[in-house]
Amino acid sequence: MKSRKFQFQRYQLTKQAAAVVRSGHPWIFKSHLSTAADVIPAGQWLGLVDSENRNIGFGLRESQGAIGIRVFSQKEEPTREFWAARLDRAIQRRDQLLKYTDGFRLLHGENDGVPGVVIDVYRGNAMLQTYSPTVDSLGRYMTQLARQRLGFSSIVWRLPAKRRRETEKEAQILFGYAPEIANIREGGLKIAVPILSGQKGGAFLDLRNLRKWISLRKDLGGKRVLNLFSYTGTLGLAAETAGAREIWNVDRAKPALEFGRVHHSLGKAKVQVIEADVFRWIRSLNVDEKFDLIIVDPPQMASAIEQVPKALAMYKTLYHEVLKNLSPGGRIVAACCTSRIKREQFEDLVQRVLGRDMKLEANLKAEDDHPVGFPEGDYLKIVAYRARS
Ligand SMILES: C[S@@+](CC[C@H](N)C(=O)[O-])C[C@H]1O[C@@H](n2cnc3c(N)ncnc32)[C@H](O)[C@@H]1O
Repeated sequence: MKSRKFQFQRYQLTKQAAAVVRSGHPWIFKSHLSTAADVIPAGQWLGLVDSENRNIGFGLRESQGAIGIRVFSQKEEPTREFWAARLDRAIQRRDQLLKYTDGFRLLHGENDGVPGVVIDVYRGNAMLQTYSPTVDSLGRYMTQLARQRLGFSSIVWRLPAKRRRETEKEAQILFGYAPEIANIREGGLKIAVPILSGQKGGAFLDLRNLRKWISLRKDLGGKRVLNLFSYTGTLGLAAETAGAREIWNVDRAKPALEFGRVHHSLGKAKVQVIEADVFRWIRSLNVDEKFDLIIVDPPQMASAIEQVPKALAMYKTLYHEVLKNLSPGGRIVAACCTSRIKREQFEDLVQRVLGRDMKLEANLKAEDDHPVGFPEGDYLKIVAYRARS
């Protein structure tokens, strides 16, 4: 892709699909395509025209899942200059953030105008993730372009969890020497990231605001924290920074817990790691174990709309269970990372289960490096409640 010119095939959209492009949404679902699309191979670049043959956008034919065409642009033809401009805009958006951290998301897929392509940077080590084979070469191209601007010491290419399960492809080093662990700084926190083997490309960068919020709760001094779905325990580390005296990190991923035990403890608090299925474990937790802060950050439980009722039922059970272990005046942090569950729906549910004795204390906004560019991009909700005293 580096040297060749993009070749566009003309494709006439149905009225419904043309409306999608005009609305600025980056996905045309297969159900909105005409049968003429059936013979267009995956990965073909498309010039999109409406029923009156007017050019209304540019896209890429997708083959997997529900997406039929990824729309890149409404007006401009995607040239090399076009992609470079998208990258430069993304870099500019993160300008302020780089004063605070050297671990950040450089490209957030559709939300930064580069569908299906995610690039994270961990202290100069770039981590590319591509969500479909059709965007693999675009992802590699964008990463090389970013290297020219930011000077990476290494580039690693990993597939997101779902693709990894399907292909069993391991991390691939595209450039330089990639360390097993990258140590990033986030404000006053030092976070170790297992870049070759961790979940979500290594670290949950989208929890940065929450780590900051927790580390600033000085009234956590001497308190107990239950960190459910802890992964490597960076939220526990934030609580320790705030002065917590005891932290329980619970997750079912043993490697992540072990990694956290080694890297994410300051030695000031008593940190326990518990390998368990939280949904079962929480039911057996003794009511006498009281915590001043309980963090609930489960995995994405609904990737399809049909899964939403079950996911909501699981949230309900979880919040009902954790309430019994909350100290008087304590806090519960609730996170939900699926766009299938709407913001209001999630907040209503949690507030209803927690009851009127718990007051909303904070509603954290999306990170600057995780901009929300379309409805499905608004996936993460983080709310904190506090028991009225
Ligand atoms: C959204 S991530 C949590 C990120 C974490 N809070 C952090 O600070 O980095 C979800 C976590 O849930 C864990 N997990 C998934 N299903 C689980 C289960 N049934 N019981 C316990 N942990 C689970 C995964 O291993 C993953 O670490």
